[in-house]
Amino acid sequence: MSKTIAALKQMHNIERFATEIYRVQRRAFKDKISINKMTAAMHNEQEHIDDLLECIISQGETKSWMGTAFEVMGKFLGFLSTLLGRQFVFWADAKIEQRAIKDYGIFLKTINFDAKSKRIVVKNLNDEKVHLRSWQDALGRLTGKPPKDTRYMT
Ligand SMILES: [Fe+2]
Ligand SMILES: [Fe+2]
Repeated sequence: MSKTIAALKQMHNIERFATEIYRVQRRAFKDKISINKMTAAMHNEQEHIDDLLECIISQGETKSWMGTAFEVMGKFLGFLSTLLGRQFVFWADAKIEQRAIKDYGIFLKTINFDAKSKRIVVKNLNDEKVHLRSWQDALGRLTGKPPKDTRYMT
């Protein structure tokens, strides 16, 4: 398997993980604004999944067989986080987005993507930055404090 395909499959798995986390976490909220935000993030992550899969398929490959395990893990961790409260949910989500931004950044530096894949990776990276900002802002509103960890915030 080429490095490009391996990277696309890894990102596809991580997006499936994130999507399931947000899907489950919506239950932690009662207010419409938070539910809508979480739902919008979930749909945006689903777009990332679909775009990455299209790239993988267009290169004659299939998605990773481990994807289902990532989804199950996402559901489980999403559920666990909801037990720990909204503050933990936003904190954990900011961590997830930071990790995604870091991984996308490393892939962009180290993998020689074709133009279409690169466009998608850059778009996803920028979307993750918006998500990170959104979770950090939500956390700030809950705690009344500015974010402690400002890595990857733009
Ligand atoms: Fe994503
Ligand atoms: Fe994201």
